[in-house]
Amino acid sequence: MQLSEFGLIGLGVMGKSLSLNLAENGFHLSLYNRHETGIEENVANDFIESDPLLKSAKGFDDLNKFVASLEAPRKILLMIKAGPALDKVIDLMIPVLEAGDVIIDGGNSHYKDTKRRIDYLANHQMHFVGSGVSGGEEGARKGPSIMPGGAKETYPLISRFLEAIAAKDKYGNACCTYIGSEGAGHFIKMVHNGVEYAEMQLIAETYGLLRYGGGHTPDQIAGIFENWMGQGLSSYLLEISINIMRKKENDSWLIDQILDKAGNKGTGSWTTIAAAELGVPVTMITAALFARYTSSFKNERIENSAAYNFEKNGTATSIDIDQLRDAYQIARIINHHQGFHLMQAASDDANWGLNFSEIARIWTNGCIIRSDLMEQLVEPLKTEHRILNMKSMVTLLEKNKTALGNIIKAGVNSDQAIPCFSAAATYLLTYTSAQSTANIIQAQRDYFGAHTYQRMDDPESGFHHTEWV
Ligand code: 6PG
Repeated sequence: MQLSEFGLIGLGVMGKSLSLNLAENGFHLSLYNRHETGIEENVANDFIESDPLLKSAKGFDDLNKFVASLEAPRKILLMIKAGPALDKVIDLMIPVLEAGDVIIDGGNSHYKDTKRRIDYLANHQMHFVGSGVSGGEEGARKGPSIMPGGAKETYPLISRFLEAIAAKDKYGNACCTYIGSEGAGHFIKMVHNGVEYAEMQLIAETYGLLRYGGGHTPDQIAGIFENWMGQGLSSYLLEISINIMRKKENDSWLIDQILDKAGNKGTGSWTTIAAAELGVPVTMITAALFARYTSSFKNERIENSAAYNFEKNGTATSIDIDQLRDAYQIARIINHHQGFHLMQAASDDANWGLNFSEIARIWTNGCIIRSDLMEQLVEPLKTEHRILNMKSMVTLLEKNKTALGNIIKAGVNSDQAIPCFSAAATYLLTYTSAQSTANIIQAQRDYFGAHTYQRMDDPESGFHHTEWV
């Protein structure tokens, strides 16, 4: 039997899409899906029969036979839900794998779990790669952005497969590159998702300001977003939001039928936790995460809306659409700055040596946060890692700062909750203020806890305590 050159385990939505992408790129595949009587039976072979692209693929529901069907060193992509199920499959495979074999985890696993698995497989002389895969079902089928980490010497064993199926940047290069050791690949995927949360929240807040603050209809908002797409603000998320605005159900807008309780699968909270552990203020990502949590208290919000008889300011006709566009533009830049700051801190802490220009490059296509802005960041990130310190960005933020402040006022005046816009404005002010009010915090800490403070007139003289009373 001719051995397959690449194996894939887990034929869910993403696994099936990636399998078709791999097959379309000419790879001979072995596909495995577990057998669960009455739930998942003959999944692999049924899938193979469903599409002519898979005519040369082999299907299995027996793990040992699946592994035996692969040429050595085996390259196996796991598309399994992050967590214990992944560890269970790895443990089932180890007895039938051999030294030098490669397991790639393409799920949204936690980067610390990935480091543990790399060490575990290394003890069996095997390679483990934690790889972010971004782009959803469509991206997986047509070309995702792929973020493989793990040992550098492992990447050449799998690069031809991953780079073949990855999306391509504007020069035709694969949106896939070796990210860094340990869990670096999954770490940047996590940050990608964090930036995604804030990008999505900004669009939601913009929608709220226009719909409930400015009285615009979803069709009118779609038109406004469409104009912005042509004004340098093009992004995948804004593009899909235009389609969402226009989606009708009978004669009504579908958006009005969607319950306003946001879910999440965890990557946004992981990003917030990682930022807290590294001491990095990803204030927009955290604002977006907590906005999702707040939305989940729907029943309480309904009760509270009746309990509080606020004086409503009514529709703020003062929302200037051009100012909203300018505010949205710089809020996104601040979001990206915070995300790259977090990756810089992690890279320094773990000594990963991340290449931020390359990260931006592989995020210019295939992934959920692909955008004109990401394209603009690739070149300057070669020399400046702090996005807000890039000359082009300083000029833009100086020009648009007033607009951001006016949008915050419009939000307050129209009773619109805008946590992400507010976080952006606050961060910008803090980031650019030579004098903050943290001296009060230091004084209070020294007052009640004798935690001491440094002096402005002699910061190098060490720490001081005052008997305050
Ligand atoms: C991607 C997406 C993908 C998934 C998110 C959803 O990059 O392709 O981000 O990873 O859709 O996990 O995350 P939430 O359910 O937390 O919004």
